[in-house]
Amino acid sequence: MAKKLFIRTYGCQMNVYDSARMADVLAPLGYAATERVEDADMVILNTCHIREHAEEKVFSELGRLRLLKQAKPDGQRLIIAVAGCVAQAEGEEILARAPYVDIVLGPQTYHRLPEMVAKASRAGAQVLDTDFPAEPKFDHLPPQSVQGPSAFLSVQEGCDKFCSFCVVPYTRGGEYSRPVAAVLAEARSLVEGGTCEITLLGQNVNGYHGNGPDGCGWGLGRLIGALADVPGIERIRYTTSHPRDMGEDLIAAHRDIPQLMPFLHLPVQSGSDRILAQMNRQHTADDYRRLIDRLRTAQPDLALSSDFIVGFPGESDADFESTLGLIRDIGFAQAYSFKYSPRPGTPAAAMEDQVAEDSKDERLAALQSLIAAQATAFNQGCVGRSFDVLLDRPGRHAGQLIGRSPYMQSVFVTAPESMLNTVQRLEMVAANPNSLAANLVERRACA
Ligand code: 5AD
Ligand code: SF4
Repeated sequence: MAKKLFIRTYGCQMNVYDSARMADVLAPLGYAATERVEDADMVILNTCHIREHAEEKVFSELGRLRLLKQAKPDGQRLIIAVAGCVAQAEGEEILARAPYVDIVLGPQTYHRLPEMVAKASRAGAQVLDTDFPAEPKFDHLPPQSVQGPSAFLSVQEGCDKFCSFCVVPYTRGGEYSRPVAAVLAEARSLVEGGTCEITLLGQNVNGYHGNGPDGCGWGLGRLIGALADVPGIERIRYTTSHPRDMGEDLIAAHRDIPQLMPFLHLPVQSGSDRILAQMNRQHTADDYRRLIDRLRTAQPDLALSSDFIVGFPGESDADFESTLGLIRDIGFAQAYSFKYSPRPGTPAAAMEDQVAEDSKDERLAALQSLIAAQATAFNQGCVGRSFDVLLDRPGRHAGQLIGRSPYMQSVFVTAPESMLNTVQRLEMVAANPNSLAANLVERRACA
C-alpha cells in the first residue's frame, strides 16, 4: 500500500520549491502526497529561520505532531522530519528538545532523504544531516514532477552578502549557481508537463553566474534570454534580488525580452543611509533611486515591490522618515514589511540601541498604511486596462477563477472551468486593495 507523505512549508518560495523536490525524492520509495496530516506515515516540516515568529511556529507544530505520533495504533509508525533553515541552524537542539523527531536535515542534503528514511526506520535511530556537501544536491535530484502552468525553478542558492540582520548566509551557505544547461533542461521538462510561466528562484537570484555551454559565466539576463527561446515559455519572473547585483544585462533584459514580466521584487530594507550602512547593504538610498530610474527607462511599465525592515538597531525617527521618503519617491505596487527581529549569531543581534517594541509597532503601522495607499492607487490605475492573466486557481465562488496579472496582482473573473490553467485576455473592471476584478476579453490557450 502506498505510504502517505505530508509536507508543511514555512517561509520563502525557495522552501516551496524544496518541498516539491523532497516529494519527488521520496516518490520512488512509495510515498504519495496527502493533504491530511492525520493520514500521514511521514511528516516533513520545511522550516524558516528568517524571523523569530517563523521559528516559534515550528516548535508548536512539533508539539501537535508528537500527540499524533503517540496516537498511532501499534505497529504503525509516523516518521517526523524537520527540514529547512531552522533544522540547519538548530539541528542538535531540535533532536534534544523533541526526541520524537526522527530526522533533521538541512536545505542542502535532501537528495539523501532515502538513506535517512532507511536509517530512521530502524527503531530508535535519530538522523541528523546538516552538511554542506561538496557536490550540489541538484546533481542528485530526480526530474521535477508536473507542477502546473506556473512553476518554480531554482537557479541559484545561498548568499555571500552577509546583511547584518540576516541568517541566510549561515543557513543556506555560500552562493551557488546551477549550470545553464541544467536550468534549460529543467525548463524544457517543465514545459512538457504543461508549464508556461516560470519563476526563477534564488536567495540572491540576480547574483546568478552559472557556467554556460560556451564555458563562460552567464549572468541572469543572459539566462533569461536563453529561457525565452525555449518554445512554450510564455512568462518569466525571478526573485529575490539584491540592488548591488542588478547588472546591465539584466536591466537590458527588462527592455528586450517580452516574456520577462514587468514586475520586480527588489528589497531595499531602509531609506536611511546610516541604517543601510549598519545593515551592510553596500548601497545608499540614492543608489537605489538611480537604479530604479535606469530600470524604468529600460521598461517604463515596470511595477515594483520591495522588503522593508522597521526598528533595526539604532533606527531613529529621522531614519524612519527617510524610509517613508524613499517609498514616496519610488511608488511601489506592493511591498513586504517586517519588524526587526534579532537572530542569534548575526551581527545586528549584538548591536546596542535595540529599538523598543512599541516604536517598531508604530513604524510598521505607518509604513504599511503608506504601502497600502500606494498599492490601492496602483490597482486603481489598472482599471480599464487589459492584460493576459494566467488563470491558475479556482475561486471561492462557483464559476469564478483566479489568476495573476503581469504585475502579480490576484485577478478574479467569472469564467468557465475549462479556462483553468490557461492564459486569458482580461479587462480589469474594479480594484480592491489587494486584488482586481476582471471580465473576459478573448480566449487563448496556453501552449
Ligand atoms: N528581522 C526582520 N526581517 C528580516 N528579514 C530578514 N532578516 C530579518 C530580521 N532579522 C526580512 C528582510 C528580507 C526578507 C526576506 O525578510 O526584509 O528581505
Ligand atoms: Fe539575507 Fe542580505 Fe543575503 Fe538577502 S542579500 S539573503 S537579506 S544576507
